[in-house]
Amino acid sequence: MKVLGIETSCDECSAAVVEDGKNILSNVVATQIPFHAPWNGVVPEIASRKHTEWIYAVTKEALDKAGLRVEDIDAVSVTNRPGLLGSLLVGLSFAKAFAWARNIPFIAVDHMLAHLYAPFLISDASETRAEYPFLGLLVSGGHTIICRADNFDDIKILGTTIDDAAGEAFDKVAKFYNFGYPGGAVIDKMAQNGDSNAFRFPMPSLHKGDHRYDVSYSGIKNAVINQLDMFKIKEKYSNEDIAASFQKTAVEILLRALLNAAEDTDLTTIVAGGGVAANSYLRSRLSKKVNLRCVFPPLELCGDNAAMIAGLGYHYLKRGECSPLNVTASARVTGFKKKYP
Ligand code: KG4
Ligand code: ZN
Repeated sequence: MKVLGIETSCDECSAAVVEDGKNILSNVVATQIPFHAPWNGVVPEIASRKHTEWIYAVTKEALDKAGLRVEDIDAVSVTNRPGLLGSLLVGLSFAKAFAWARNIPFIAVDHMLAHLYAPFLISDASETRAEYPFLGLLVSGGHTIICRADNFDDIKILGTTIDDAAGEAFDKVAKFYNFGYPGGAVIDKMAQNGDSNAFRFPMPSLHKGDHRYDVSYSGIKNAVINQLDMFKIKEKYSNEDIAASFQKTAVEILLRALLNAAEDTDLTTIVAGGGVAANSYLRSRLSKKVNLRCVFPPLELCGDNAAMIAGLGYHYLKRGECSPLNVTASARVTGFKKKYP
């Protein structure tokens, strides 16, 4: 089954064709970075406008690259949650129109679940595969979730951030210091030339009881932005030192919660997904863990992309599940909040 995937939840306008939930025939990701960079962050109105301008051409390119015609597509899968509402609505409306015009099945999916599905895709770039059950680390601009995944649509939330998301902290630190946009990728690059011991930023005191798998980023964000001098180890420091020290602590916060969860469960495979899963320090720290198998999607599948949407959608469609054409978009997903006993 050839599924057309559409993803417009934030600032990437993406269309892809994936066969049988596995083989990526094409995956076009048109990034809006240059349009948001002057504001050091995503401007929702610009994002939805660009999606409107680009979605047709991006989809056409995805079909052309796959060597397919509109008539060759068997079904459509689209992100309808979570994300920027105006942006989501562009992809959702386009996907509905495509499916309606062709009279083919249509499914609206959760793009956070799709991030966890990314390593199940076989692309030319990677043979990395994952198997259920596993411990999921979902780290994007808006979410930080540690979960147990038993199937593509069956996840149990073990821990979350109690305030800011990890990606959000990268973005806000980069924005404050004018390091550039998108913040996570810029900080990752700057950190390569910085001293990660130039500052000793505080870790949240969150590792006990109900919060054993939770994380918090408001403390470190505040420390880096408002109390920098309080935490310096070196008298003279560079922007690269700030980036490297921040990145190290931000990743250690994630690792502490994740490794607590690994210790308390029978799960020995970790699957990471979402933009922050591209972080080189996170990838290198996790790859050195000897008792754990850590699966990362290839870099091009960490951020938002339509291949993971088409891949995930296939599994719902195979079960015979479709969405009605009046399904709507939602900015937030309540199921991603942890329930405390
Ligand atoms: O999954 P994603 O592309 O979009 C959302 O669903 O939010 O994630 C975007 C987030 C941003 O916060 C961005 O700064 C972060 O991923 N990010 C990174 C890196 N690349 C992107 N964070 C840390 N290191 C990176 N290399
Ligand atoms: Zn995402």
